[in-house]
Amino acid sequence: MWKLTTYLGLFAALAGGKQLEDQKAWKRPIVLDSSGGFNVGGKVIQSPYNPNMTLSCDHGYIEYFLPWKPRKTSLFMWHSSSTQTWQNRFDGGEGFKDKFLRRDYPVYLWDAPRLGRANWACEPTFYAPDYRDQGNFVAWNFGPSYPDFWPDTQFPAENKTAWEQVTGARYVEYDTVPNVWLQATAAAIAADSYKVGDSIVFLCNSASGLRAQLAATLSNTTNTKAIVAYESYGYVFPDNVNITGGEPFGPIIVPVEQFKKLAKLPAIQYIFSDHRPEDFTFLVQARQSVKLINMYGGNAEILRLGKDAGLKGSTHIAFADMDNDKVAGLLDKFLEKNKLDEYAEEGDEDSNGDD
Ligand SMILES: *[C@@H]1O[C@H](CO)[C@@H](O)[C@H](O)[C@H]1NC(C)=O
Ligand SMILES: *[C@@H]1O[C@H](CO)[C@@H](O)[C@H](O)[C@H]1NC(C)=O
Ligand SMILES: *[C@@H]1O[C@H](CO)[C@@H](O)[C@H](O)[C@H]1NC(C)=O
Ligand SMILES: *[C@@H]1O[C@H](CO)[C@@H](O)[C@H](O)[C@H]1NC(C)=O
Repeated sequence: MWKLTTYLGLFAALAGGKQLEDQKAWKRPIVLDSSGGFNVGGKVIQSPYNPNMTLSCDHGYIEYFLPWKPRKTSLFMWHSSSTQTWQNRFDGGEGFKDKFLRRDYPVYLWDAPRLGRANWACEPTFYAPDYRDQGNFVAWNFGPSYPDFWPDTQFPAENKTAWEQVTGARYVEYDTVPNVWLQATAAAIAADSYKVGDSIVFLCNSASGLRAQLAATLSNTTNTKAIVAYESYGYVFPDNVNITGGEPFGPIIVPVEQFKKLAKLPAIQYIFSDHRPEDFTFLVQARQSVKLINMYGGNAEILRLGKDAGLKGSTHIAFADMDNDKVAGLLDKFLEKNKLDEYAEEGDEDSNGDD
């Protein structure tokens, strides 16, 4: 009996110890093997006036950060409006980029063709200033209408600088269906190139969720292992169901054989923020998507941060929310459950510096 009690006590101490270890791990320094960037995809076009004159254009841009002792799975952070959303919490605190570097995941920040640092387009692009700030406030689910925040919002409502930072960080998105294809194709080429590794999770937000689904159906390798989409605006559907394509956030209709590639991914998770009604268009579409993917043998699910995970006031960009520690914890669980948390070298988990 004494032995059993000791054993149980020891077990409890170990369990507590593990928790403490986890907390310490998330505070440990970020140790990189290397960082850098490169272009991927794109094409070379000839001048109509002089075929000797060319333009290399429509490629995507990847900035990478590779941990000293990496895990196997790369996190491909695909923004809709700005890489900044992955870099910091709304109040300037730690964003997913550093959080997951501390956890030893290789991190890739992706600017799809024509966005951000990949803005060298093969065609004329057009930008006219528009009065978008108040629209952003509502689209990002900070509150029901500008400037009324949800009382429990995870945006730092009192911080005026935070609001200026987030709305000003936005890039021109070029939301058209041809650009959805252009950007998805470039990401598929990136995934198939092995330059992002051979085990990739597309982490997406908003309109990049649609693009990542399409990219997974265009890819010719099994390198893409999962899609985790925070409020995907738009879904890919097969051509054998009665769903009509739309602009600019889909639906995108593809041949059923191509659609089935989504069912081959080990896991897909569509995440929704708090204060979204059950009949929210993209939640309704997400349910249809999950049903079809799982019907073909896939593993897709919906996670509502409010109703399913008990978080309050989560925004459209939950990974930059004030409680993004909890949102990161949910991603840890997803990666662990789908065995995407392994280290690159077998049994190397314990030789990881500070433990
Ligand atoms: C293109 O380059 C070729 C080979 O150098 C040259 O013969 C030709 O004149 C050039 N054409 C123009 C329009 O400059
Ligand atoms: C407010 O947000 C800005 C921008 O994210 C940040 O730099 C600043 O430190 C924040 N202020 C407080 C008091 O948290
Ligand atoms: C996949 O293979 C097909 C057939 O060879 C090719 O047309 C397509 O461009 C490839 N996709 C990518 C993303 O490279
Ligand atoms: C397909 O959907 C359209 C629009 O929702 C509807 O009018 C039509 O009856 C449907 N057709 C079939 C075969 O279900």
